[in-house]
Amino acid sequence: MVSSVIISTAVVIVTSTMMMMLFSLAKAISSPSSSTDEAEALRSTGWWNSTSAHCHWDGVYCNNAGRVTGIALYGSGKELGELSKLEFSSFPSLVELNLSACGLNGSIPHQIGTLTQLTYLSLGLNNLTGELPLSLANLTQLEVLSFYSNRLHGSILPEIGKMKNLTVLDLGNNNLTGVIPSSFGNLTNLTFLYLDGNKISGFIPPQIGKLKNLRFLYLSSNGLHGPIPPEIGKLKNLEVLYLFYNKLHGLIPPEIGNMKKLIFLNLRSNNLTGVIPSSFGNLTNLNSLTLRGNQISGFIPPEIGYLLNLSYLDLSENQISGFIPEEIVNLKKLGHLDMSNNLIRGKIPSQLGYLKEVEYFNLSHNNLSGTIPHSISNNYMWTSIDLSHNQLESQSTTPHEAFGHDKGLCGGINGLSHCKKRHQIVLIVVISLSATLLLSVTALGFLFHKQKIRKNQLSKTTKAKNGDLFSIWDYDGTIAYDDIIQATEDFDIKYCIGTGGYGSVYRAQLPSGKVVALKKLHSWEREDPTYLKSFENEVQMLSTIQHRNIVKLHGFCLHNRCMFLVYKYMEKGSLYCMLRDEVEVVELDWIKRVNVVKSIASALSYMHHDYVMPIIHRDISSNNILLDSKLEACVSDFGTARLLDPYSSNQTLLVGTYGYIAPGKLDYTLH
Ligand SMILES: *[C@@H]1O[C@H](CO)[C@@H](O)[C@H](O)[C@H]1NC(C)=O
Ligand SMILES: *[C@@H]1O[C@H](CO)[C@@H](O)[C@H](O)[C@H]1NC(C)=O
Ligand SMILES: *[C@@H]1O[C@H](CO)[C@@H](O)[C@H](O)[C@H]1NC(C)=O
Ligand SMILES: *[C@@H]1O[C@H](CO)[C@@H](O)[C@H](O)[C@H]1NC(C)=O
Ligand SMILES: *[C@@H]1O[C@H](CO)[C@@H](O)[C@H](O)[C@H]1NC(C)=O
Ligand SMILES: *[C@@H]1O[C@H](CO)[C@@H](O)[C@H](O)[C@H]1NC(C)=O
Repeated sequence: MVSSVIISTAVVIVTSTMMMMLFSLAKAISSPSSSTDEAEALRSTGWWNSTSAHCHWDGVYCNNAGRVTGIALYGSGKELGELSKLEFSSFPSLVELNLSACGLNGSIPHQIGTLTQLTYLSLGLNNLTGELPLSLANLTQLEVLSFYSNRLHGSILPEIGKMKNLTVLDLGNNNLTGVIPSSFGNLTNLTFLYLDGNKISGFIPPQIGKLKNLRFLYLSSNGLHGPIPPEIGKLKNLEVLYLFYNKLHGLIPPEIGNMKKLIFLNLRSNNLTGVIPSSFGNLTNLNSLTLRGNQISGFIPPEIGYLLNLSYLDLSENQISGFIPEEIVNLKKLGHLDMSNNLIRGKIPSQLGYLKEVEYFNLSHNNLSGTIPHSISNNYMWTSIDLSHNQLESQSTTPHEAFGHDKGLCGGINGLSHCKKRHQIVLIVVISLSATLLLSVTALGFLFHKQKIRKNQLSKTTKAKNGDLFSIWDYDGTIAYDDIIQATEDFDIKYCIGTGGYGSVYRAQLPSGKVVALKKLHSWEREDPTYLKSFENEVQMLSTIQHRNIVKLHGFCLHNRCMFLVYKYMEKGSLYCMLRDEVEVVELDWIKRVNVVKSIASALSYMHHDYVMPIIHRDISSNNILLDSKLEACVSDFGTARLLDPYSSNQTLLVGTYGYIAPGKLDYTLH
């Protein structure tokens, strides 16, 4: 009895041992790779040259067992070539694959479907072509999937709807066609959905209203048609809704008013009809509302006065009628107001002129009548006013030289015969500002044109999107956004040559051999309106003044993904640093120092006396005086400079264009 128990126990032990051996043998056979295979697979890409153990290579991450779990070469500025060089099946433990902006081309190999452990996949900002491989459907663990800005075509796989853990899906800026799959309604964890800048057609699926966690929805710049589904109003957590540049028609669903967290709403350039729903008054967090270029009619609902956070309001190019509601004067944060090209009649509420933040005010091409309120005609704080093409009359008793059209007044500056001089000054400023604007717009247009031509040759696209203030100034036709990113390896710290009043300064050698300096805002500064303002101020100041002793601005980029200024490179750096360097200070003898002083005096004199309006720098210090290789000095850092109106005792006018900056798009975090 006892022995039989022992025997059967032994049999059990032997059998189970054998089974375990068999099992591990089977596992070894089926397991496609080992740590050495992984090393070999990495080496054969040619993307690394190191001879050390592969787990120590740049951008390679291993677990305790020595298996590769992460490959991240983001923004390395490399030209890695074909993505298929990476043998995906060799990395069964890979959790993160981040090859954004790595100069990848070719198609996405179907073997990518073997990376079943993957939670983070980003291949954005490359030059990948072809269609999305069907095998993607096997990556069911994915939390972040980004193919942003490539040249992928074909349709969006409905199978993506099975990736239940997805929080970020970014397929923006490609050539994708077909429809938005209704299966996306199952992605209930999705927080950011970007499909903008494609050729997607069809309707917006009502299933999108299941996505309760969605915060950003970018469907702009596609060929979407049909109505905006009322179900969209269920997105209670939505902060950004971009549907602009599509072919959407029908009414604006009043349910949009249920999205109480909305900050940016842009429906520009569609075929929407009907009225602005009064429910919009519930969107109390709204910062920016753009309905431009539709066929919206009816009155502006007085409820608009509840949008106390609104700073950007564009209702232009519609068929809006009725009066301007008095309630609009509650919008104390309003910086940009455009109601031009509508059928609005009645008087301009005089209280409007007391809104302090306004920088752009356009009521032109309407049926407004009555007199222009003094609060507006005497307003020197606003930089751009256009009331032309209305039936407005001046309150002035003396005739004025109309420089607008009909009875209207472009610039709205009139009735100032008692203060002629001031009149002229303001006029010049308005004209010079408009000239600057015009110049910038022309430069922009030129750039877009150029971009178009170059698009086929460029490895990456740098398209303007989302209505952000985008502009890369062209310099001798040779600076492209890509060149700058490559030259600095996406602003790698090793190119940093200092930090200014704000932002960091980088040295960039362009492919042409030219060296430029770049000032880039830190990411935390971009969130802060004060820094943004300084930055924009500097752009505006430096793009208008030119003097041999004022630092030369070659261009700038004001965009949510990049924010930098391009300057002439000043080899010797700041006077402050030079005076503290034992070697350099000897070179700077007394004669040269006198020359520096003369140069600065000449720049200041120009700024104070010779420019159309005096410019006060307000921050002259040895830190802000830069020297070139010949020790020629230039004044820099115009972030806090101001224009001074000499005819008002203490009033200063802060210069800077108003621009709204959409929330950053690449802020997604890795878990
Ligand atoms: C590796 O070395 C080869 C030959 O020197 C070179 O062409 C290649 O660019 C290097 N690759 C990397 C990633 O540094
Ligand atoms: C992956 O790329 C994103 C940009 O797409 C970047 O912000 C992030 O830091 C990268 N992750 C890693 C682990 O390098
Ligand atoms: C997904 O994985 C399964 C099992 O490995 C495989 O049989 C199937 O072909 C894969 N599907 C795709 C679309 O690659
Ligand atoms: C969403 O998921 C459910 C359950 O998994 C499934 O039955 C349904 O078909 C899915 N919906 C779509 C549109 O794919
Ligand atoms: C809206 O304004 C309120 C009160 O000024 C403020 O607390 C809130 O943060 C603002 N919201 C946004 C999104 O700016
Ligand atoms: C005002 O709007 C009209 C029509 O939309 C436009 O033509 C004009 O240029 C705008 N004025 C300014 C100063 O931007």
